[in-house]
This record gives sequence, C-alpha cells and structure tokens, in this order.
Amino acid sequence: MLHVLDHPLITHKLTQMRKKETKTKDFRQNLDEIGGLMAYEITRDLPTKEVRIETPVCGCVTKELEKDIVLVPILRAGLGMVNGICNLIPTVKVAHIGMYRDEETLQPHPYFEKYPKDMDRSIVMVVDPMLATGGSAAAAIDMVKKQGACDIRLICLVGAPEGVKVIEELHPDVDIYLAALDDHLNEKGYIVPGLGDAGDRIFGTK
Ligand code: URA
Repeated sequence: MLHVLDHPLITHKLTQMRKKETKTKDFRQNLDEIGGLMAYEITRDLPTKEVRIETPVCGCVTKELEKDIVLVPILRAGLGMVNGICNLIPTVKVAHIGMYRDEETLQPHPYFEKYPKDMDRSIVMVVDPMLATGGSAAAAIDMVKKQGACDIRLICLVGAPEGVKVIEELHPDVDIYLAALDDHLNEKGYIVPGLGDAGDRIFGTK
C-alpha cells in the first residue's frame, strides 16, 4: 500500500531540497530531518510487547518494541537517510545493499550486500531517497526477501508513479512510504519535478 506522508514540516524541508540553489550542507541537513520525521510516522504501528519493570517508585507493567528494526540503505543515496532515522531509533541495525544504475539501460546492478542476523524476525526498512523506475528498490526487496525478511517497508523521499506501480506489482506485500509523489519520469530516468541526482546532491559530487 502507498502512504504519502503529507506533513507541513516534511513538505517545507523537501521544498528546500528541491531548489537547485540549495547546497550540499543544507541538502543533507534537510534530508536528515525529513528522515527523522518520516521514521516517526512510519513506526506508528510497530508491534510492542508487555514488560514488567521497576521504576524508582514501584514495579509496573509497560511496553517495549517487540521486534528488531533493520535499516537497509541502497548505496549510495540511501546512506543519506540513515542518520536521521538512526537519531530517532538508535537501536536500529544497518544492513547495506550496493546497487548502481546503468545510465543507458537504467537497470540495477547489485555489487555488495551485508545483513545482520535474524532478518526473518525483524522489521526491515529499505531506504532510497528516489523511487524512480522502481528497478533498484524491487531488486533490493528481492535481496532482503532471500535473507528471509517478510515484514518489509520501502521508505523513499520522492516517488514517480512509474516506480510505485512496479513495486505494487512485484511486491504487493510491501508498504511504500513517500514524502511526495511527483508527476512522472523523464526520458533520462529523472523524476519530474524531483530534485535532480540525490546521490550527487548528498555527497557533493557531479
Ligand atoms: N535517481 C535520482 O537521484 N534522481 C532521480 O530523479 C531519479 C533517480
């Protein structure tokens, strides 16, 4: 299911990121902040378990998170969303999937993967700022499913309808979270209006 997180703070920060004059430092800071805000919304329905604890005053029954959370950034742009989410959920484990997109065929090519144990019992959040063709995200979801993951969320900043459709068709069990659903993909595979190349803007490369 698609969830577009329509929140004034997220929208405002995303607008700063979209502006072509926004420099690397502000781009990264806004992405960090949006990552935290999105994490807050996305974790609303996380399962909790009852635990008995002692406060300085008395014993009581309260709740803790039931499952581990594994963040899976798709290298390299996905790394830009890790800090903000980790700040809000410091116990997350961070897997990595290295994936680059062939500029001509636009097809994803995996070159690196590393996971924590117990992927099958964790809530797995695949993160990549741009959901463009959906090819990389779909391939990354295939890869985490091969590790046993069965509770998977895809967290992106900006999505194109084309990418959303691909994920909905190939992985109907995965919830998709976006800060914005944009208009379309252009002939070069960029999201329109989008924000340009997220990796280059996060890392200050060209
Ligand atoms: N990847 C990006 O970084 N930007 C786009 O617009 C599409 C894919």
